[in-house]
Amino acid sequence: MSKKVVAVIFGGRSSEHDISRVSASMIIQNINQDKYTVIPVCITREGRWVLFDGPIESIKSENWEKFAATAILSPDADHRGLLRIVGEKVKFIPIDIIFPVLHGLNGEDGTVQGLFELTGIPYVGCGVLSSAISMNKAYTKLVVNTLDIAQAKHTVVYRNELEENIADCIERVENACGYPCFVKPACAGSSVGITKAHNRDELADGLWIAAREDRTIVIEENITGLELECAVLGNDDVTASVVGQILPAAEFYDYDAKYNNSESRTVIPAPIPKEKSEEIREDAVRIFKALDGSGLSRVDFFLEEGTNRVVFNEINTLPGFTSISMYPMLFNALGISPEELVDRLIELAIKKFEG
Ligand SMILES: Nc1ncnc2c1ncn2[C@@H]1O[C@H](COP(=O)(O)OP(=O)(O)OP(=O)(O)O)[C@@H](O)[C@H]1O
Ligand SMILES: [Mg+2]
Repeated sequence: MSKKVVAVIFGGRSSEHDISRVSASMIIQNINQDKYTVIPVCITREGRWVLFDGPIESIKSENWEKFAATAILSPDADHRGLLRIVGEKVKFIPIDIIFPVLHGLNGEDGTVQGLFELTGIPYVGCGVLSSAISMNKAYTKLVVNTLDIAQAKHTVVYRNELEENIADCIERVENACGYPCFVKPACAGSSVGITKAHNRDELADGLWIAAREDRTIVIEENITGLELECAVLGNDDVTASVVGQILPAAEFYDYDAKYNNSESRTVIPAPIPKEKSEEIREDAVRIFKALDGSGLSRVDFFLEEGTNRVVFNEINTLPGFTSISMYPMLFNALGISPEELVDRLIELAIKKFEG
């Protein structure tokens, strides 16, 4: 049987471009080369689609990009592949499976998934609807509200309301959430535009900061407790991983704490009672299903100090996949190696496509 061709698409215009490169090299290294031929395609920071044909170690550098051939995914379902364009010459490269390794805006929010749908090629991970809802913190909350799973008290403010009457908005937030509270753009990159407000001045600043990223702003009460994460894998039969804990080095787990601060640590399995980790695993699967998830996601929670409540925080449909990322580590702890994980994800994509 001839090998299937997997296009690994990485990079992208989002703020998580760098992490995507690291995730992509980890995924490519773990794709079974006996079964699959890998074609890496990079979306540059500027949004160009280019073919990567260098050694895997070079994926993290950007030097090769200006010499690379353009390679765009054709939306024509008759093509089912990439069009490699050099000058006026176009070469066709057939693709059997698309493996998006794109985090954040344009990659994890249904945008690129819409293109994948048009191509008629199976692709790894969530579809258009689940990606779009899961990227939007306001809409995710609406769906999770139907599940009887606790969430932080929250309210939504729109940019135009802020421009019209910020005092009203502040009053609404103070009544719903109190201080400190978290101010978040509904859709943005990892921790981009998120602030913690301890008083009215910081809240006003935080609302304007968030409004730069999105016209919808979500404000949440502060939850004090452990930060816990659970990975899920599957389409109809969904497996939940063990539960892990993240220990932010900063006041909250922002982009810098996550990727640049070596003091931030992860603990697997999380040091919590068995019944709490079971509750989290069940909730993770229920949330994933309610959001019409497929393939993979990482679902994040708090275990609230004092009340011992499991509180849902957010879901990531294309979570980080580096050697120190929670998603592969949580499944590794369950005995599923990164190589097996990558293999299962590709098979799930094919299965979903075949229906
Ligand atoms: N309501 C809250 N109470 C306490 N801490 C919070 C709350 N919301 C967010 N945080 C802190 O801020 C961090 C970032 O928030 P959140 O996970 O919602 O943002 P994100 O940018 O979508 O995250 P990611 O980078 O995982 O995609 C959390 O990991 C946590 O440390
Ligand atoms: Mg988070």
